[in-house]
Amino acid sequence: MRVLVTGATGFIGSRLIPELLAKGVAVRALTRNAARYGTAAGVEVMQGDVLDRASLSTALKKVDAAYYFVHSMSKDTRGTGLSFEERDRLGAQNFVDAAGEQGVKRIVYLGGLGDENDALSKHLLSRMEVGRVLASGQPALTTLHAALIIGAGGSSFEMLRYLTDRLPVMIAPKWLETRSQPIAVRDCLAYLAGCLFEDRTSGHTFDIGGPDIVTYRQLIGIYAQLRGLKRFIIGVPVLTPRLSSYWINLVTPVSAELARPLVDGLKNEMICHEQEILALLPLARTPIREAIRLAMKEPRPKTIRA
Ligand SMILES: NC(=O)c1ccc[n+]([C@@H]2O[C@H](COP(=O)([O-])OP(=O)(O)OC[C@H]3O[C@@H](n4cnc5c(N)ncnc54)[C@H](OP(=O)(O)O)[C@@H]3O)[C@@H](O)[C@H]2O)c1
Repeated sequence: MRVLVTGATGFIGSRLIPELLAKGVAVRALTRNAARYGTAAGVEVMQGDVLDRASLSTALKKVDAAYYFVHSMSKDTRGTGLSFEERDRLGAQNFVDAAGEQGVKRIVYLGGLGDENDALSKHLLSRMEVGRVLASGQPALTTLHAALIIGAGGSSFEMLRYLTDRLPVMIAPKWLETRSQPIAVRDCLAYLAGCLFEDRTSGHTFDIGGPDIVTYRQLIGIYAQLRGLKRFIIGVPVLTPRLSSYWINLVTPVSAELARPLVDGLKNEMICHEQEILALLPLARTPIREAIRLAMKEPRPKTIRA
């Protein structure tokens, strides 16, 4: 089986590739900058951009299945003048059209958890829309919806971790009390890889999460406790996402541009509404403390890019 992994340099894509190789899958990696990717044994590297339709036709030739891990939270490097939602939509449309044309049978997409009736942030709404666009094409789509993914280099996890490391006293707004169902990156990867070999996941959407539901205040508390840090969190009624993102930019390596959509999303509860994936891909899910402990053991990237 030959599989294209988009977002191959990212947090999820770069970790999924070795898992697929270990299962005997022929992997083709898509990146906008092949020189930066370098070489990796057994991986065919392809330069391409989801905003450039022609590059996708080449990348998707003779591919059986593809993973879609692209989001547009980074700068508009191509100078398209489009908003991030428009770029998200165009990228997904180009991708599903090219995949259909090349006869790709399946696409697996990792999006965000959230309830569309819940005044979702622009970023989460856009993630949902990408799912709808990808579902509208010829290939059968599997969508996995996840909340915060816990692992070194995950943008939301690193944002919370840097804030906790660097601020003995944290002033935080209402999102502290929002509940979430984070997932350990190893569990997320097990579901992503598992989908490829379980035909019953084809054409379906699943919520994926860890066994624990926690507020962000609890999450920060668990991390601080594991690090042996004493932290004080003072809740304030209002702190605009814009102000929070400037503040995060000052204190952490997360840019204001990336922090803004991440902070916006913290107001939305992210909890699994169904757990059907557990029956199809049984897994002893990693408890939250263990997930954080594992992430703390991993090498930590110095920059967090989107
Ligand atoms: N991280 C989390 O906690 C989390 C939680 C829930 C859901 N998710 C979802 O998981 C997916 C992957 O997230 P991630 O954390 O792995 O993201 P990430 O680390 O920021 O990686 C994003 C990737 O997208 C690629 N990319 C961006 N624009 C592109 C374009 N125009 N054309 C081609 N590639 C492009 C980048 O590759 P190059 O720069 O090499 O081209 C980069 O590798 C996303 O759909 C995200 O919404 C993530």
